[in-house]
Amino acid sequence: MDGDDRLRRLKESANRLPIITACPVPIPCRDLRISVTDRCNFRCVYCMPKTVFGRDYPYLSRGELLSFEEIVRIARIFARLGVEKIRLTGGEPLLRRHVDELIGQLAAIPDIELTLTTNGSLLPQMAEALKKAGLARVTVSLDAFDDAVFRRMNDVDFPVAQVFEGIDAAAAAGLTPLKINMVVKRGANDDQILSLAEHFRGSGHILRFIEYMDVGSSNDWRMDEVLPSADVVARIAQRFPLEAIAANYPGEVAERWRYADGAGEIGVISSVTQTFCHDCTRIRLSTEGKLYTCLFANQGHDLRELMRSGRNDAEIAAFIGALWQARDDRYSEIRQAATTARRKIEMSYIGG
Ligand code: GTP
Ligand code: 5AD
Ligand code: SF4
Repeated sequence: MDGDDRLRRLKESANRLPIITACPVPIPCRDLRISVTDRCNFRCVYCMPKTVFGRDYPYLSRGELLSFEEIVRIARIFARLGVEKIRLTGGEPLLRRHVDELIGQLAAIPDIELTLTTNGSLLPQMAEALKKAGLARVTVSLDAFDDAVFRRMNDVDFPVAQVFEGIDAAAAAGLTPLKINMVVKRGANDDQILSLAEHFRGSGHILRFIEYMDVGSSNDWRMDEVLPSADVVARIAQRFPLEAIAANYPGEVAERWRYADGAGEIGVISSVTQTFCHDCTRIRLSTEGKLYTCLFANQGHDLRELMRSGRNDAEIAAFIGALWQARDDRYSEIRQAATTARRKIEMSYIGG
């Protein structure tokens, strides 16, 4: 499919909610996302709004968190079950004390790509230690180029310059290829699309635009605040011509485009207008050890309890295997008014 066809298809899907499709066939579980803390030093308006979370939300206590030993044990079991990629998330994962030690232990698991999604605020001082510990690469969330818009989006008055500094530190440390995720909320930061695109063109970093999702229940999500990826691509292509390129691997959430003049690539993640439940290979482990087979789940499965009540690895592996086999999640494909109003787990708890 060439770029024009793909843009046409994106445009056609942009103004309606996705239709229900057939149940997905069983697919492998390849991507384990581990939330290592529910804390965050930002209050992004679409994720942990201050109106709901305040500055000092009652976070989980130390004893409720999975220990490093428990996290590594679960990760090893997943690796034996076929997981190939582990992503540390949060909250803000770099706020977990001694996270570099955890990274060191996870990096010792053979044949696993270890990566992390961060808001970038602590990268200036931590990037090098993370690389040394064995982290392969990072994805940095960045929702604006302009300082005033960025401060409004993070709602804690955090300066954008420090995140740019973090990105440079990560690149210098070799945490590459580096990806930058921008959540686009219409009317809030969509005027930043072009300036971020222009800034990262030619940098070697991959900027990706994420449709604002109805994840969690705290952000008062409205469909009219979603800017469809088709519009994002059209806005950029008008200034810098784009060509569609193929996915890197089956189940990749981002659709890839490259600048026709060779200045690199961008991605769009269209989880609202073009769903990808049918080939989702991801599973999520919350900070307190609950396993979720979907980002939009409202119920997790307690692995911490299984471990703390003395189950062995084979028993835990059997539990996970059965759970994955029975999974029929496809929230994004059946999203509609009734389901968006349903109580769901917050992104800061389950991890992006
Ligand atoms: P790499 O290709 O390894 O860089 O990772 P990735 O494409 O999985 O990227 P990342 O983990 O950064 O995911 C990007 C964003 O896509 C997340 O922050 C979410 O906003 C969204 N996303 C990821 N997984 C899912 C999912 O299962 N469902 C939905 N609806 N959105 C998702
Ligand atoms: N919609 C889309 N993306 C979101 N993220 C957090 N909340 C939302 C939402 N409502 C993204 C962040 C970050 C990752 C952890 O999840 O921007 O890239
Ligand atoms: Fe924190 Fe990331 Fe949520 Fe922003 S999106 S509040 S940085 S967890």
